[in-house]
Amino acid sequence: MIKHIHLLFIVLTISSFIIRILLAEFKPEILSKKILKIAPHIIDTILLLSGIALVFQGNWMAGEYGWIISKFIMLIAYIGFGVMAMRSSGIKRWLAFAGALGAFAYILSVAISKHGFI
Ligand code: HEM
Repeated sequence: MIKHIHLLFIVLTISSFIIRILLAEFKPEILSKKILKIAPHIIDTILLLSGIALVFQGNWMAGEYGWIISKFIMLIAYIGFGVMAMRSSGIKRWLAFAGALGAFAYILSVAISKHGFI
């Protein structure tokens, strides 16, 4: 159950991020809508909370938990690059966008392999 919530919000965070970047580039006026300002925070909070709940549910801290710390650090990188991509423009935006996608792909690989860089 919690895992399904986690997976759903993983899909929601990446799709809403891509949509918001495209809007920021091509239709920035739409981004001023209140729902588009609040929704990403709600999505990311639920994603984080579901991840933390899974850590307890699976008793993951009892074993080799370096992969969870790696995921956590890369989540901060994903959010940081994401904010940078939303706030900057031109090539800087697209470099930050690539960084965010790279961090996200890395989190996915760590989640599946359970092996991080720590
Ligand atoms: C962008 C952020 C995240 C992505 C893309 C992501 C991705 C995933 C995926 C794909 C799985 C399923 C893995 C599998 O079934 O083999 C998973 C499971 C899990 N995630 Fe995340 N996750 C993210 C954030 C987090 C955070 C922040 C935490 C912890 C604080 C976390 C903790 C966990 C745990 C404990 C599992 C359960 C592993 C299992 O039961 O097999 N995740 N995550």
